[in-house]
Amino acid sequence: MGNIKRVFTVDGQPYFIVGAQARNSSGYNDAESERAFRALKAIHGNTLEVPVYWGQVEPSEGHFDFTSVDALLTSARRYGVRLVLLWFGTWKNGDMDYVPDWVKTNPQRFRRVLSSTGKDIWNLSSYCRASFEADKAAFTAFCRHLKERDGDAHTVIALQVENESGILGCDRDYGPDGQTAFDSPVPADLVAKMRAASRGWVYEHWQKAGGREAGSWPELFGWEAGELMTAWSIAGYIDRLVEAGKAIYDLPMYINVWLGSDRCNAAGEAYPSGGAVAHVLDIYKWYTPHIDLIAPDIYIADTKGYEAACADYARDDNPLFVPESPQNGSNAWLMFSAVGNYDATGYSFFAAEDVLCDDGSVHPECRALVESFQSLAAAVPLLLKYQGSGRIHAVVQEEFLAGQWLDLEGYTGQVEFDGAGGGAFRDWRHSAPAARDRVGNEPRRGRGLVIQAGPHEFYLVGSAFRLTLRPKLPPEQGRDLAVAVGWLPARQAHYVSVDEGHFDERGAFVVDRQRNGDEFDFGLWVEADTGVVRAILCE
Ligand code: DGJ
Repeated sequence: MGNIKRVFTVDGQPYFIVGAQARNSSGYNDAESERAFRALKAIHGNTLEVPVYWGQVEPSEGHFDFTSVDALLTSARRYGVRLVLLWFGTWKNGDMDYVPDWVKTNPQRFRRVLSSTGKDIWNLSSYCRASFEADKAAFTAFCRHLKERDGDAHTVIALQVENESGILGCDRDYGPDGQTAFDSPVPADLVAKMRAASRGWVYEHWQKAGGREAGSWPELFGWEAGELMTAWSIAGYIDRLVEAGKAIYDLPMYINVWLGSDRCNAAGEAYPSGGAVAHVLDIYKWYTPHIDLIAPDIYIADTKGYEAACADYARDDNPLFVPESPQNGSNAWLMFSAVGNYDATGYSFFAAEDVLCDDGSVHPECRALVESFQSLAAAVPLLLKYQGSGRIHAVVQEEFLAGQWLDLEGYTGQVEFDGAGGGAFRDWRHSAPAARDRVGNEPRRGRGLVIQAGPHEFYLVGSAFRLTLRPKLPPEQGRDLAVAVGWLPARQAHYVSVDEGHFDERGAFVVDRQRNGDEFDFGLWVEADTGVVRAILCE
């Protein structure tokens, strides 16, 4: 039904990642990765993202040891979950911390980026052939190993290639190779691509600098030239790695991005220069034909910034996937905007281990996020069916928001929030025990999804909101309906049935609990522990 491009599949079927990412050092360490797997189960997730370290798997040049990868495969199969493995190679967060010692200690062979003052930067130059060839040899060995050990089981469903690539410390490589590139003509095909696009940030940079048809990078792009050239160079470097990896094992491969502060001349200071930030994204899309998608790591707490990031990366040529996000704060509700409004094809948060206390219980600060992920997990069959169809509506309680109106087919959805408008918990009286026990707690943020599966069939997941479905009727008929229900708070339709339930492995809805009378007269309320609420209304 939905028409979005699904990069992630399992056994040929579309797959939505409900994910968590392990902390940076957990791939070295069985005890820590074990905790990450347990955390994934706690959120009802299906996919763990874990790093694989070039430095660890190739301790001396040409000698590979994939014991740590095999341990991850074994654990994932034991837990019945899938893996996305993160290749920490040439780049990690804009530096080179994860390259092998024999690379770190040989700057003559593996040349570093030089800053404008001639200082060595802790970053391998993307113009150095030896570095590329060394990373390629290791990455392809890794792909070969995976194909051999997992080619049938498909425990690993995708690879992230490098991590938040780019240069921290300057905007470009001022060393001899970088300088030669900088002074050389901008490739004619880049000019042709900008001309053909005739819009977008890269095109605008070019126009702002005069829109010349030919010339060096600074002649075509002025002050932005260093960042744009670095983006072009790094995009090509990673794409060639991916091409080589896929030639061995054709898995989906994506890259992730440390988001930038747009157009503030802060490349290399506020974020790694040459990473796929929004204002160079067109260059990345033009020069990474082998990379399946470019994924923003969204650590943005305010709604405006968060949604702008979603909008930047949810493009026709780039389905949205969020591989990293925070464990607390507004992520617990904004994630539904990514999924409902921007058709995110998967969603994951960083530092899985931290959501669990030592006794295995959920850390109180992460409870909201955990509940949101549980709700998301419950809705996966609906997401796979209806994303991209306009039938999924995000419920997101921003600060001071008392309610939300949803424009549904044939109905208006009136969403009301727990504790809105001053704090007191509304007496919904007949909620499930777990929800009732929360009376007196701090008001919680309402969030979730409302999915219209048919003209009179709705599904709800989420927490701390209730929905009243008001039929869209001519005024006279509407008034009749309000009179018919008398003392109830809003005009609402009559239900055929309202049930709490879940989806089975085949995607069929299974009823766990029926609601009637008082339990729906005040609308349809939902909490993480009510699972999926289905309402079927009378025509
Ligand atoms: C983003 C990186 O991609 C992760 O590996 C990790 O370093 C987090 N930042 C830390 O917040």
